[in-house]
Amino acid sequence: MSKIAELNETVELSINGQSYSFPVIVGTENEKGIDIDSLRAKTLYITLDSGFKNTGSCKSAITFLDGEEGILRYRGYSIEELAEKASFLEVAYLLYHGELPNSAQLEAFSRELEAEAALPAGVDKIIDSFPQDTHPMAMLSAVLSVLTGYYPESVNPNPDGKLAEKLYIQLLAKMPTLCAYIYRRGQGLPYLPPNPNFAYCENFLYMMYGEAGKPFRVNPTVVEALDKLLILHADHEQNCSTSTVRIVGSSQASVYSSVSAGVSALWGPLHGGANQQVIEMLEAIKADGGDTDKYIAKAKDKNDNFRLSGFGHRVYKNFDPRATIIKKACDDVLSAMGINDPVLTIAKGLEQAALNDTYFKDRKLYPNVDFYSGIIYRALGIPTEMFTVMFALGRLPGWVSQWKEMRDGGEPIGRPRQIYTGYTLRPFTDLNKR
Ligand code: CMC
Repeated sequence: MSKIAELNETVELSINGQSYSFPVIVGTENEKGIDIDSLRAKTLYITLDSGFKNTGSCKSAITFLDGEEGILRYRGYSIEELAEKASFLEVAYLLYHGELPNSAQLEAFSRELEAEAALPAGVDKIIDSFPQDTHPMAMLSAVLSVLTGYYPESVNPNPDGKLAEKLYIQLLAKMPTLCAYIYRRGQGLPYLPPNPNFAYCENFLYMMYGEAGKPFRVNPTVVEALDKLLILHADHEQNCSTSTVRIVGSSQASVYSSVSAGVSALWGPLHGGANQQVIEMLEAIKADGGDTDKYIAKAKDKNDNFRLSGFGHRVYKNFDPRATIIKKACDDVLSAMGINDPVLTIAKGLEQAALNDTYFKDRKLYPNVDFYSGIIYRALGIPTEMFTVMFALGRLPGWVSQWKEMRDGGEPIGRPRQIYTGYTLRPFTDLNKR
């Protein structure tokens, strides 16, 4: 469903007495945009919007987000309901196909994923060739791009429905295997192939922590929490990494290389890398005596470049709905596993102090999805450097679904303009002759 209406409303722009009219478009949730497609052709002017704070880059029917109200929906379903009632595989199906699967469709989808879960022969050797302490996100991005060599048909920028779905299945199926082996590489452990007896999340944990030929059991609360975390990360409309995937794909690069670029964009500490930063920050506060007030003061100090990781969001000016769900999941996991993590006490203290502080209140800075996710990952035994990989594992369905929407929609190549601020024309000077 993708209904974009053009309203009778128009916006008038006056430049040096000359008036230009631009149509207003409205989305299905009544959000309005000024369509400036013809701006430069009509006026020779462009708009300047650093960080794209006010710029819509596309029309999309996948995810709806209202940052003022703290609303997040995938294909019309609220994140709260999906996190409670759906599985990650159902959400992965929903994002890509637009509808939830029935049980036969879900069964077929799961079987297809199972059949594609192993890494192609040789990929483990590529991972082995990285220095052991390579950051997992660097390995993930590199290997996703390299997979193009194993699946040459993936270079097709306009795959038909069948091929596109095959590529999606391949990526979704191999991602946990790849992430798990990247983890094992860091630990100096051998590749452990997927086990068809386990479902998606359980299999991922098996490939991380299991041993070939030995029985593997995992606490169902852990599997449930992991599944929920992946659902919460599955898509988030036009964020930095998703926009990267769309813009790379708009040049007709393959879906594998587009997703690889998305991984690189996600890695930064202002985006997905914040989950690693949060735990490192909480650990540092703990090591420094646990004085949260000191760090709140540092975060407010404009002469100090310390920021409270896991706080603030470009679009949420209210609670991040994902953070509310994660906070509860975090409490559930820790109590089910009997873990008493002192870092959680610091996190809660920091949250309370920030929520009552005018600096944070005035700027509408609330805990985001990354504030509590790291504490759960830690409880699951996942090392800090792997946290952003976990985010990528969850975000994959969103990236591929957005890539497909962009390709199917025949979007033009993404190519912003600029306001040039360098030298004007000057004669060539041979510096040696002066
Ligand atoms: N700690 C202290 N001050 C902050 C923070 C923070 N975490 N975030 C924003 N501010 C202040 C900022 O200094 C600015 O103050 P002023 O108006 O006085 O100059 C104001 O709030 C607005 O900040 P901004 O940097 O202009 O906002 P932005 O929309 O460009 O940045 C952000 C959004 C998420 C990058 C930023 O809030 C931040 O750096 N947060 C910490 C990193 C983080 O947790 N990132 C994960 C985001 S959620 C996962 C995802 O979806 O990517």
